[in-house]
Amino acid sequence: ATVTYDFNITWVTANPDGMADRPTIGINGQWPIPTIRVNVGDRLIVNVLNSLGNESTSLHFHGLFMRGATHMDGPVSVTQCPILPGERFTYNLTVDQPGTYWYHSHSHGQYPDGLRGPLIVHDPKSPFKDMYDEEIVMTVSDWYHDLMHGLLSRFMSKANPTGAEPVPNSALLNETQDLAVPLQPGKTYLFRMVNIGAFAGQYVWFEGHNMTILEVDGVYTHPAEASMIYLSAAQRCSFLITARNDTSANFPIVASMDTDLFDTLPDGLNWNVTGWLVYDTAKPLPDPAVLDGPFEPFDDIGLVPWDNQTILGEPDQTISLDVIMDNLGDGANYAFFNNITYVGPKVPTLYTALTAGEHATNPAVYGTYTHSFVLEQDQIVDIVLNNLDPGKHPFHLHGHTFQVIWRSPDEAGTFADSNVTAADYPRVPMKRDTVVLHPNGNMVLRFKSDNPGVWLFHCHIEWHVQSGLMATFVESPLDIQRTLFIPADHLAACDKAGVPTAGNAAG
Ligand code: C2O
Repeated sequence: ATVTYDFNITWVTANPDGMADRPTIGINGQWPIPTIRVNVGDRLIVNVLNSLGNESTSLHFHGLFMRGATHMDGPVSVTQCPILPGERFTYNLTVDQPGTYWYHSHSHGQYPDGLRGPLIVHDPKSPFKDMYDEEIVMTVSDWYHDLMHGLLSRFMSKANPTGAEPVPNSALLNETQDLAVPLQPGKTYLFRMVNIGAFAGQYVWFEGHNMTILEVDGVYTHPAEASMIYLSAAQRCSFLITARNDTSANFPIVASMDTDLFDTLPDGLNWNVTGWLVYDTAKPLPDPAVLDGPFEPFDDIGLVPWDNQTILGEPDQTISLDVIMDNLGDGANYAFFNNITYVGPKVPTLYTALTAGEHATNPAVYGTYTHSFVLEQDQIVDIVLNNLDPGKHPFHLHGHTFQVIWRSPDEAGTFADSNVTAADYPRVPMKRDTVVLHPNGNMVLRFKSDNPGVWLFHCHIEWHVQSGLMATFVESPLDIQRTLFIPADHLAACDKAGVPTAGNAAG
């Protein structure tokens, strides 16, 4: 089937924590924005009209592979030009993977202003479909009272030499602080939870109830019991919760921001948000029993993928990336992979790949600051990450899931320091599309370059995206040249933005 959404993107006013009205980016006059729902195999069409007036935009469908449709992936200056105010742009893709995803702006640090919502791919053939009665989609997020534009210019300025990220004002569940989830005794529910936040990872638990994890980041897992999970920015998890058999009490749902990420803990702020599992609306909504850490969430890397896919063979190509936070001598702090801080090019990297002919296999054509790596088709690729920074970083790869074949604990030093051999790798590694690199630790992600396209690899903390913790994987560029057709509205977006690509469209 074809599922079509018409999205008119506008400013609305919102006040989800009851502390301050602020301009927020909504869709069709509403915020929170709608959940996109499709079935596996559907074609998804999203017609965007940018009515913001003062900002350009774009949409990324986080976690979808965009097979044959890298030009629909959304990041501005990577696979498209910005959608300017007043302009229309159509995303058109087929969805061939089940699970819990989300969509968000992928333009100039914009999504924390509100343009972020769930995207659910229903699977009539799910191995778990008989295990539950109903499905509940839930988001966790962090919220700022100020707009990203102002926060970003302060964050990237000399006035912030330490590079301290702005600390969120509030945590939200379903973009509110008043979430009540009605449950019926004895029923089993599939919760699909997404962290759509800008920065904070969150610990999540349901008092008096256990979770049975069935999926993370669109990857089905062997069922695993958990009493608490951790979701970094951009991670998803779906799990069963079986309602109790009696209605004698209601129970708190708690999401608690990971304060280890914050350089400062401003006074008077509440890091937690409480919602409720409601069995009886006449009974009180109790406060949580425990709110202080240290928390011990379920270990996501300990999960086993449902398909039991074994570890991919030895790598053909290894990309080694050191994560460094430093400045460029101008007083502000930037983020680096090795010695490069990412800066988006004017001509989208994809369009360069399409027009460079045989030179498209030479990373130099994409410019130093795109930090591009060219991958040949059907290679096994290892990304070795060394965190030379004391912070956590949730890394995300577009267009793929990766196997997490090694992840060190905190403070383990570099991969070389960890003295790991192939014998230390799991036989059936967990795979996902977003994974947390530990403070001063290291990890190895392995994937197969079987999806021609231009794919970003980046930390999903929006502050670190803006400060340059991003690289570009140009996968099978000659194959893209042979197969990809850029539609007229995408080329028109570049024309309007004054980016010279239209004459060189691939066809
Ligand atoms: Cu949800 Cu480039 O990310």
